[in-house]
Amino acid sequence: MKIAVASDHAGYDLKTALLGFLEERGIPHEDFGASPGETVDYVDQAETAIRAVLNGGCDRAILVCGTGIGMAMAANKFPGIRATVCWSAFTADMARRHNDSNCLTLGGRVLRPDEGLAVARIWLDTPFEGGRHRRRLDKLAALEARACGRRP
Ligand code: RB5
Repeated sequence: MKIAVASDHAGYDLKTALLGFLEERGIPHEDFGASPGETVDYVDQAETAIRAVLNGGCDRAILVCGTGIGMAMAANKFPGIRATVCWSAFTADMARRHNDSNCLTLGGRVLRPDEGLAVARIWLDTPFEGGRHRRRLDKLAALEARACGRRP
């Protein structure tokens, strides 16, 4: 599993910690910025990383901004992306088990680096449960198609 990683300036420190964590664990990843000292907009950063997922170069994404909210809003504009802001062990666990989250968003101004890494570890390690949750995600995909004016 290869992870696309990106942040804006507010998420830079947590993203840096995350890159070290992925490196240590031997998890393939690609860093789409921001670079040190660079001020960038979360919308642009999310688009770049999510396009890497949609074109098959990466399997999932972890995006970090100040709160995780802007990144989730931007990432969820893309069909097939289920971006979830997670801030605790419980939300990370549920985002994977019930929502099959394929994009974790974190708040660099919400979580200390050690807290953010603990959330990321759970999100990376937890499988999707399937079953009744599969049905709900199928409905979500159909809703997305209708909302975008596509045939479900
Ligand atoms: C940047 O100042 C901040 O607004 C951004 O990182 C994010 O928190 C938006 O959701």
